[in-house]
Amino acid sequence: MPEKPKLLITRRLRDAVQARAARDYQVLTNAEDRVFTRDEIIEKCQQVDAVLPCHSEHFSADVIAALPDRLKIIANHSVGVDHVDLAAAKTAGIVVTNTPDVLSDATAEIAMLCMLGAARRGAEGDAMIRAGNWDFWSPAFMVGRQVTGKRFGVLGMGRVGQVAAERARGFGMTVHYHNRQPVAEHLAKGAIYHDTIEGLFANSDVLSLHCPSTPETTGIINAETIGWLPDRAILVNTARGNLVDEDALVDALESGKLFAAGLDVFRNEPGGNQRISALKNVFLLPHIGSATEETRDAMGFRALDNLDAYFAGREPGDRVA
Ligand code: DGY
Repeated sequence: MPEKPKLLITRRLRDAVQARAARDYQVLTNAEDRVFTRDEIIEKCQQVDAVLPCHSEHFSADVIAALPDRLKIIANHSVGVDHVDLAAAKTAGIVVTNTPDVLSDATAEIAMLCMLGAARRGAEGDAMIRAGNWDFWSPAFMVGRQVTGKRFGVLGMGRVGQVAAERARGFGMTVHYHNRQPVAEHLAKGAIYHDTIEGLFANSDVLSLHCPSTPETTGIINAETIGWLPDRAILVNTARGNLVDEDALVDALESGKLFAAGLDVFRNEPGGNQRISALKNVFLLPHIGSATEETRDAMGFRALDNLDAYFAGREPGDRVA
């Protein structure tokens, strides 16, 4: 019987995923479940044929250049792959995969939570009660914005964007979107396509970001583009923190140009942005879009499916490089 391939799993995964991995691979784990340093990643990868990282581990061009010839595949436990230099991986002949589809429902749920939390002042109300400061009620108290009947703008109508649009329709919202290309009618289900970002922003009472992080989308939410939104719009970001110029966002939240923001992702993770955290009109979560039991199992199994395919000599289903 051939020796099982050696696999580095960089973070602690769910028990069922770890058990399946241990059945089929010689697994090197991260008992402390902390983010490995750049040097640790390079060092641990010297011993393995494959690595299963999360978005918390960065495979920049210089890290990839330092990987051994024996390492053949980076099977990510994430749909986003902005933490991996795909061009460098391709040059090095390393296969890269991701875990699409399985986290769309969970992430769309978090987009709805962020939207409602921001619109209805969820964090403010919660903090008030916890601090023992709920000593008043009146019809003018904690009045927020209703989303029913409003326009839900989707930037990036991919898998997560489509599910978020579906959920927003459940709130009686009209869906508007911008994507590189319009998506087929049966997927868009009556959503209104805008061929420019400006057109989408001008028609979004809530703007929800669902595009990948690329050089083109970095900072796509900035002082100029926020200006295209209707006054008192709401921004939702469950995609990647670097889509947003956070100083411009703070300015817009302070000036009232934006009514509120619901954010699950930040430029600085973990940690966030203290200027944003100091504001009342934000609803904040610590990058938990895909953090459900079902989804984390499915992401782990999907990453293992990709590894299994590779080591069986087949094309992995979710190959991105
Ligand atoms: C993803 O899959 O890209 C999520 O952000 C979690 O890593």
